[in-house]
Amino acid sequence: MAARVFRSSLMLETMPKPNAHPEIDLDRVPRHIAIIMDGNGRWALERGLERNAGHREGIESVREVIRAGRDYGIEVLTLYAFSIENWSRPKSEVAELMRLLEEYLESELAEVMENRGRVRSIGRLDRLPPSTRRAVENAVRETEGNDGMQIVFALSYGGRTEIVDAARRLARDAELGKVDPETLDEKGFVAYLYAPDLPDPDLLIRTGCEQRVSNFLLWQIAYSEIHLSGCMWPEFRRSEFETAILDFQRRERRFGLTSAQIRAGADETAGR
Ligand code: FPP
Repeated sequence: MAARVFRSSLMLETMPKPNAHPEIDLDRVPRHIAIIMDGNGRWALERGLERNAGHREGIESVREVIRAGRDYGIEVLTLYAFSIENWSRPKSEVAELMRLLEEYLESELAEVMENRGRVRSIGRLDRLPPSTRRAVENAVRETEGNDGMQIVFALSYGGRTEIVDAARRLARDAELGKVDPETLDEKGFVAYLYAPDLPDPDLLIRTGCEQRVSNFLLWQIAYSEIHLSGCMWPEFRRSEFETAILDFQRRERRFGLTSAQIRAGADETAGR
């Protein structure tokens, strides 16, 4: 939460962060940004490299985007690092992705701690190789008391699986009489998702020139703004991240209401 901390600690509401993009309104950055990191394989193949080289280069983008997210005071950054469908990729690619994740978590932990970042994960961790799972659980445990940006790794994650897992636990609780299906509402259902305390993503970014949501956070992105980037993930760095925030700040979020209603609501909040 660097940008906000910076402002509140100096009590100077309008002072911009020194290296912030001049057109980004620091008071209107998305609280939660979720990213579908796509295009590693194509980035590598286009350069005559093997696919895994793209994943390795993608790590540098992960680092840079996490740093940028922190600088802009983003509260939650969710990264789609490994989908449940990715288990069907060639064994050597799955093994390299697991190895990279492990290595990344171990090597970045000190910096995350220094910045009070909190690592979390969503997905079916029980399918991860034991050493990868240990690295994830260790990072989660070590950082759980931190109050900085939450970095959520979606691992062995599928949006439909998350909803089914929630429904299963809900059905069990209903059987035990802990929940009444007749009075269940959306808020009650959310409590069964993997990370119910997180705000829904305000902005969903997808790289790699594709235009689909690929089973990512299906429940949570109901009202997210979507930014599609023409970059392959290894090319997506701080300036592309800033472009996505600027794109977000140009949108009018209506949540199913009309523009007039949104303006009236803003006037009311401002006491006009
Ligand atoms: C999609 O590219 C990307 C992934 C399957 C995983 C993303 C992984 C990383 C960025 C590296 C490891 C992650 C962390 C968090 C340390 P793709 O292979 O589907 O690309 P393609 O569409 O060009 O084939």
